[in-house]
Amino acid sequence: MYKLVLASRNKNKIRELREMLAEVTDSIEILSLDDIGYEGDIEEDGSSYEENSAIKSLVPASMGYVGIADDSGLSVDVLDGAPGVYSARYAGEHVTYTDNNEKLLKVLENEDNRAAKFVCVMTLAVPDGAGVDLPCDVVDEELSRFATERAGRRVKVAAVRGECAGTILRELRGEGGFGYDPMFYFEPAGKTFAEMDHEEKNAVSHRGEAVSKFKSLIRTVFGGK
Ligand code: IMP
Repeated sequence: MYKLVLASRNKNKIRELREMLAEVTDSIEILSLDDIGYEGDIEEDGSSYEENSAIKSLVPASMGYVGIADDSGLSVDVLDGAPGVYSARYAGEHVTYTDNNEKLLKVLENEDNRAAKFVCVMTLAVPDGAGVDLPCDVVDEELSRFATERAGRRVKVAAVRGECAGTILRELRGEGGFGYDPMFYFEPAGKTFAEMDHEEKNAVSHRGEAVSKFKSLIRTVFGGK
């Protein structure tokens, strides 16, 4: 049995990851940061979704565990990818989703190009000595160098990325979802993400795509169905 640690304390995230990976293999067990006794906060100071996800997965990896993490956000074309890695704190520290939505509506007020995409990156960080071999063809060399330097020990990192393209509306629509969902219009469905149910959103979302690629990665590394 391999122990993999999700760099999160969010019980829902942990349950979801357990359920999703149980479909792939019986040979892994998912632990949380609480399970390994890590009590600190993680400073997400990377300059890309990949770096931020790697930074999070490095917390367990630095303690000798195989680490898993994700990072996601909204990238608006005309804003050169902003809010991007700052999506959660676009309007400032300790703000609400509404604050962020209002700021983005305001910033794009006079803008006709409303193209944007949601991005979700998931990483698997494997430190030397964890008893797991990450095949060369899945290793992200650049990210592994970044992680090794940061952790002060050899860490190999694999990353998967899911994206979903849409447009930013001029008003909010729908009650479901979270974050920027009410302003993110997904043309093929003719709805915002906040007007979709979970299943509908997962089938087309950045997170759905990343999760599906991550399952393949886990299958490659740990075997499975
Ligand atoms: P993370 O928790 O560091 O990945 O930050 C994610 C932030 O990006 C959230 O706080 C949201 O603002 C935004 N975000 C990511 N995925 C979604 C989504 O599916 N819908 C709406 N907002 C999202």
